[in-house]
Amino acid sequence: MSGPPVGARADLPDGFAAELIAWQRVHGRSGLPWQHTRDPYVVWLSEVMLQQTQVSTVLAYFPRFLLRFPDVRSLASASSDEVMALWSGLGYYSRARNLHRCAQVVVAEHGGLFPRSARDLALLPGIGESTAAAIAAFCHGERISILDGNVRRVLSRLLAYSGDMSQATAQKALGSLAQALVPKVASGDDMTAYTQGLMDLGATVCTRSRPLCERCPVSALCRARAAGTVEQFPVKTRKIQRRHETWWLLLARRLQASGQIHWWLQRRPSHGIWAGLFCVPVFDSDTNLMDTLDAVQRDKLRLLEPISHSLTHRELRLQPMLLDFDEQDAGVVSNGQWVPENALDAHGMPAPLRALLLAQRPAERLQGSEPAR
Ligand code: ADE
Repeated sequence: MSGPPVGARADLPDGFAAELIAWQRVHGRSGLPWQHTRDPYVVWLSEVMLQQTQVSTVLAYFPRFLLRFPDVRSLASASSDEVMALWSGLGYYSRARNLHRCAQVVVAEHGGLFPRSARDLALLPGIGESTAAAIAAFCHGERISILDGNVRRVLSRLLAYSGDMSQATAQKALGSLAQALVPKVASGDDMTAYTQGLMDLGATVCTRSRPLCERCPVSALCRARAAGTVEQFPVKTRKIQRRHETWWLLLARRLQASGQIHWWLQRRPSHGIWAGLFCVPVFDSDTNLMDTLDAVQRDKLRLLEPISHSLTHRELRLQPMLLDFDEQDAGVVSNGQWVPENALDAHGMPAPLRALLLAQRPAERLQGSEPAR
């Protein structure tokens, strides 16, 4: 990363890194399962899972993933369906596709060893600059700053930096300041505490709303705090625009004589929302859905409660329509298959859809499956 203008560097508060490191060692998070390792595979996996996802959610997925894929070679040689199935529920599925691709590149082009420097790590699929910096700092003590959304918030307040964070130039300028704040002399352990400290401060103290400034180890250095303007940072003029869309979902269910339920699933196209995942047939209007059914089927169709689901650029209203089939019925719409309910876990599916299907179990089966008391 290139250095900031000399003027900006001279204007930085003294002692930020030292205070942050000391605070992290006493008050920071220390029991997360991806800490206390310098294994780049483990750190990389956790950092990718933690992009856009809360720690509490990742805690449920990380050990399961690591158990099945303990190293980069096992992940590289897995089928993409299995990777997607284990990722199912974490959302932002392009991360899982990139993760798999990245593992394959590391094996094929780097002999199974992740590159060491942040610069080289950032050339791999799905590893952005901040993730690359986290891996290099945690695993090799590289003196480099992370700069994710949380850290932008922390540093824009610390410096009362009024650049517009929806502009790449302002993000870059703040990145230079972040780099100038990295401790000048730092052991690997120092860089681990510094990097984790930035993350911990952003996640637990310098929060988006109602920050806990009285608990902040650097409040005496914080320029926004001194000016009473903490909540005005970071400055962001452009908000993400989410398009509203309704998706009509055909929940075709087949009840077997054995009591098993099968669902008709299709694979989503390889691009766009939920790319490559298994899903029920989706229609952009109720008329288009109806057009695929005959008169008897239309009469049997049941409208279920709609579900709202937010994606990065889309606000989806999922409108499910339930249709029961007999055991003899072959298929519903072309390009699909009947999947037994107990095999859903082996299919990469969007989490809200899986929850929706599981919620349709007939009441008598739910009772029947209760454990004996
Ligand atoms: N968010 C991103 N990386 C993290 C980490 N290593 N620990 C906690 N939260 C994080």
